[in-house]
Amino acid sequence: MTTELREKVERIVRQVVRETLAASEGALSQLAGALPDGRTPLVVANWKMNHLSEDARRFASGLELADGVEVVICPASVLLPVLASALGAASPVRLGAQNLHFEPSGAFTGEHGPAMIADAGCRYVICGHSERRTLFGESDEAVQRKVAAALGSKLRPILCVGEKLAEREQGATFRVLRAQLLADLADLGSPAPDPRELVVAYEPIWAIGTGRTASAAQAQQAMAFCREQLAERFGWAWAERARLLYGGSVTPDNAAGLIAQEDVDGFLVGGASLDARRFSEIVAAAAPGRGGA
Ligand code: 13P
Repeated sequence: MTTELREKVERIVRQVVRETLAASEGALSQLAGALPDGRTPLVVANWKMNHLSEDARRFASGLELADGVEVVICPASVLLPVLASALGAASPVRLGAQNLHFEPSGAFTGEHGPAMIADAGCRYVICGHSERRTLFGESDEAVQRKVAAALGSKLRPILCVGEKLAEREQGATFRVLRAQLLADLADLGSPAPDPRELVVAYEPIWAIGTGRTASAAQAQQAMAFCREQLAERFGWAWAERARLLYGGSVTPDNAAGLIAQEDVDGFLVGGASLDARRFSEIVAAAAPGRGGA
């Protein structure tokens, strides 16, 4: 059998197993009173180290939401109060931080602890972004502690995973993703967190800020694999309810093709999130009926 044919057969078998297990586990969890399945599309802006107060205000007044899409903005931490007030208390837009320290408080100059982030109005926090891993030497161990600390403070971690270009070219993508997910989600305690409280973002490093997006098929393949890993860890009924985001050169032009993929539940957007109009177009592309769940 050729490699291509074998991979195709394996994919089909995995899909059948996945649907069968999800159906039986789903029935069991519904009997136990759990919420029914259904993943609300989630679109997250990661402004990175961009924008000043005036930009944040302009963004807030230009942002357009779409029914059925949850929107999160992660500005630089110093902009959180400005953005919160520009959006207004009644806004359904949620705030997120781009990083956190895993210790609750103490002598960690320049850092923000989980309670501070929650206190600043955040519901989400990005953990283990590849820029933190590569530019600031963040280890899987640190990322794991951040994810656990976020969950412990009622923050929803957006755990970022993704392979480097060389790793993809060596055929090591799945190995890298598996290792990151295993390490970063270790020691989460028992019982498992609510699946709505944990988001995983697949961000292939070669696609970040490069204009070179993963094709819809590449994104789907990697993200289906991520969901399988979550299922191995927490069970299929859990994994089918957790949201997986794609990140890496998402634009209004490629968003529709990506969100149409079964395992793409939304986006983590860098460059295109800086402009309210472009970001709003991405939000619109994720709306249920247009591509989102
Ligand atoms: P770009 O959308 O600029 O490629 O950035 C992606 C990213 O890193 C979001 O976290």
